[in-house]
Amino acid sequence: MRVIRVGILASGRGRNLQAIIDEVEAGTVPAEIVVVISDNHKAPALERARLHGLATVFLDPKSVTDAAHPRQAYDRKLLQALNRYQAELVILAGYMRIVSSVLLDAYALRMMNIHPSLLPSFPGLRAQQQALDHGVRISGCTVHFVTEGVDEGPIILQRAVPVHEGDTVETLSERILNEECQLLPQAIRLFAEGRLHVTGGTVHIRTGKLA
Ligand code: GAR
Repeated sequence: MRVIRVGILASGRGRNLQAIIDEVEAGTVPAEIVVVISDNHKAPALERARLHGLATVFLDPKSVTDAAHPRQAYDRKLLQALNRYQAELVILAGYMRIVSSVLLDAYALRMMNIHPSLLPSFPGLRAQQQALDHGVRISGCTVHFVTEGVDEGPIILQRAVPVHEGDTVETLSERILNEECQLLPQAIRLFAEGRLHVTGGTVHIRTGKLA
């Protein structure tokens, strides 16, 4: 099977990144992580990547000089880095910047995001807090293709988790994260195997043997 070249963008702790690294190293996801890029030089995600011998890039948002279009200017640098490493698929694994049309156009239906809620409920920041504030009994996580709107785009996979009486943001986040760490590698595997097809904004997953 063909191994897909994956570029990962991460801003923080990197638990999702670690899950992908572990599955790639175990041979259960036919992918090569060609670069890990962060907008935060202190991101533990970068350290995790280095520990596994992966290429890392820190791109400083403050280094962008185009004041009129800072997001686009930043993403042009990002795109250059992704091109340099010939990334075919881009994964937003806890990446906290909004991506612009520069990346969206270059990686249309080749860029995935993981979000800690059952979208379209609770997009944006503090999704777990939003879930607790609404008193929902079930929350979860979503992997979706990235399109223009924040946490929008065709849904690839979702997993539900219960919200327990007395849950805090920390306990709920941890329960969701355990599922995220399985879901994101699974979505990459499906993409790499050519099983994902999008029609009319809906993702269809081809099961069974592929021709
Ligand atoms: C994860 O819970 C991820 O779903 C969330 O940030 C966390 C990153 O954790 N992403 C978003 O909220 C994006 N809207 P990690 O750095 O340990 O993988």
